[in-house]
Amino acid sequence: MLDNIFTNNKIFPAFLAPMAGFTDAPFRRLCSRLGCDMSVSEMISAKAMVYRDKKTAALAKIYEGEAPVSIQLFGHEPDVMAEAACMVAEGSFEGCDFARPPVAIDINMGCPVKKIVSSGDGSALMKTPELCGRLVEGAKKCGLPVTVKIRAGFTAQSKNAVEVARICADAGAAAVCVHGRTREQMYAPGVDLDIIAAVRDALPDSVYVIGNGDVRDFESARHMVSYTGCNGVMVGRAALGDPWLFAEIASGGVGYEPPSHEERLRTAAELIAEICREKGEFAGVRESRGRAAHFIKGLRGAAEMRAALNSAETLAEVMDILKI
Ligand SMILES: Cc1cc2nc3c(=O)[nH]c(=O)nc-3n(C[C@H](O)[C@H](O)[C@H](O)COP(=O)(O)O)c2cc1C
Repeated sequence: MLDNIFTNNKIFPAFLAPMAGFTDAPFRRLCSRLGCDMSVSEMISAKAMVYRDKKTAALAKIYEGEAPVSIQLFGHEPDVMAEAACMVAEGSFEGCDFARPPVAIDINMGCPVKKIVSSGDGSALMKTPELCGRLVEGAKKCGLPVTVKIRAGFTAQSKNAVEVARICADAGAAAVCVHGRTREQMYAPGVDLDIIAAVRDALPDSVYVIGNGDVRDFESARHMVSYTGCNGVMVGRAALGDPWLFAEIASGGVGYEPPSHEERLRTAAELIAEICREKGEFAGVRESRGRAAHFIKGLRGAAEMRAALNSAETLAEVMDILKI
């Protein structure tokens, strides 16, 4: 399946990045409808999965109509990673709701958040490359392909993406996604394309390299691919209010028409209605504030709409604010 995504694409594949709090099944399906080739779930604790935490199981839901999805796990214990990956591969956990089975396990080796790093997870793993390899071996145990998402390194003085990528590839990773920033940089300034190119150069062709960081339109995606030689791009923040970006990338920059003001609002309203169906109206309405804000950014009346969304209590009120 992973091979199909890379080889059957007319230009290069575009992936939706994992984003905790955003890349749930409703949003992933929306991006799929607009041309996203594959997406990654929100990050899920391998340990919580193994402890059969119900909220964790809900994060792993996959809808009918989604493009291929990989489930992202975070953790630092190879045996726990192996057990969680097997639960995902076999769909054997309470609350498991896969309308289509995941196509890969992705291991989070890039999360910069303090709480995650201080537990030795996410980007902290880049400080122990050998452990990264053992996590890949663990996750591969039940047969699903394993991908990893890494950063350029932990600090500017320890940019070891090439070393970590090599170790993960030797351990059997099918693809390596490189966010071209260090942990220290978090999400700014600009992404280092040279480190993505160095990882591409260092790995055998059989291991796919996905570039990530600051892709915001077809041109920036095309530049990343031509500069680094990477096999595909992963889009994060720019897709949050502009899932049409996937249609733009798939068009190859030819004949793409951006959505109208009306279409933006209608799409945001549909997404929020779906989130409320999925998570319940109370949680959905609260979550919708931040999520709709991305869609209305830059539109006429955005500030007023944002203020009204922040005090909305019901789905009907949210729909009323977003009506055209
Ligand atoms: C709100 C938010 C949540 C994120 N959550 C995750 C996550 O769960 N797992 C992960 O590997 N990366 C996560 N990331 C990082 C993104 O996947 C991506 O690497 C980063 O945003 C850079 O890509 P961009 O410049 O296209 O946004 C998150 C980023 C943001 C902004």
